[in-house]
Amino acid sequence: MSTLEAREFTEEQEALVVKVFEIAPSAQKLFSFLKDSKVPLEQNPKLKTHAVTVFVMTCESAVQLRKAGKVTVRESNLKKLGATHFRIGVVDEHFEVVKFALLETIKEAVPEIWSPAMKEAWGEAYDQLVAAIKSEMKPSA
Ligand code: HEM
Repeated sequence: MSTLEAREFTEEQEALVVKVFEIAPSAQKLFSFLKDSKVPLEQNPKLKTHAVTVFVMTCESAVQLRKAGKVTVRESNLKKLGATHFRIGVVDEHFEVVKFALLETIKEAVPEIWSPAMKEAWGEAYDQLVAAIKSEMKPSA
């Protein structure tokens, strides 16, 4: 899937947004803009942006892993990502829930080509991206 298509937010990505909160309703508390929101979860534009970002950045990680053998998010971006998720209180379990939802959603979107190898590949790209973010999860100076 191209980045452009991903930005057009598909039904699958909508599923991804909703799935995280089905699995872990408490994760909603982390998103400040959800507290007083009357908009249904799947229609919340900020939440959609986040889900698409996770999806696209995982795709990019896979490409970088192949090319450079490691995830290369620009350093300034990575510092910001680490600081944001640290400040908000994102913990390992949250990353696990998002991983599960991501893999399940892709599986449901492309059942005919889904395989253990594909699950492994997406999982690895996601794990390496998360490891990079976690390495910068500390109080910002
Ligand atoms: C913000 C990416 C995992 C919760 C952001 C931003 C990006 C991002 C790019 C906005 C930029 C910034 O402020 O630094 C990612 C990626 C992830 C990931 C690539 C995994 C690979 C998670 C998880 C949670 C989470 C597991 C919790 C369930 C949030 C929240 C915000 C945020 C609450 C702030 C949203 C706001 O108030 O505007 N994330 N994220 N993220 N992320 Fe993540």
